[in-house]
Amino acid sequence: MTIRFTMDKITRDGDPVLRKVAAPVPFPLSAEHAQLAKDMMTYLVISQDEEQNEQYGLRPGVGLAAPQVGESLQMAAILIPSADPAKEDPEPYFAGVIFNPVIISETVGRGALDTGEGCLSVDQDVPGFVPRSKKITVRYQDENGDTYEKTLRNYPAIVFQHEIDHLHGHLYYDHIDRQHPWAVDDNTKYV
Ligand code: NI
Repeated sequence: MTIRFTMDKITRDGDPVLRKVAAPVPFPLSAEHAQLAKDMMTYLVISQDEEQNEQYGLRPGVGLAAPQVGESLQMAAILIPSADPAKEDPEPYFAGVIFNPVIISETVGRGALDTGEGCLSVDQDVPGFVPRSKKITVRYQDENGDTYEKTLRNYPAIVFQHEIDHLHGHLYYDHIDRQHPWAVDDNTKYV
């Protein structure tokens, strides 16, 4: 596996590309966009491998959106490990690059990771709950242009929302209540 994106290629907070609304990806996919998708997924695979991530100095990630590698395009690689890692050869919960994703429905009920969130593009730790919809249905295309609808709950729903946010110029800390970063209302459950 050849790695194209290392941490020095990841755009950081302050780079205007992270605040732009990304352009839709046209289909059929160009060879260049197909390669970009592969390279983004390679980052995630290697970043989750304890030996290799050290070798390349990668911060582990479960998602990487195209603006984070300087491309203002509506695509994001997502690699969510199995919920049951004790299983032998656990399959990831989700592994793929989503193109032109749209959240078509979401619950009013909110969920937030009890540890807060982090982002490869944000070097400093911004503490606080990031309330998001606890359950979403997302429509997206895969690399072949096929359209899928997927309903996600809890942690996977949060990962998808974090990545889709990147395609609209939002960063996770935009959602943190700076006055009361760890306050939760009755509607918000820890995930
Ligand atoms: Ni991020």
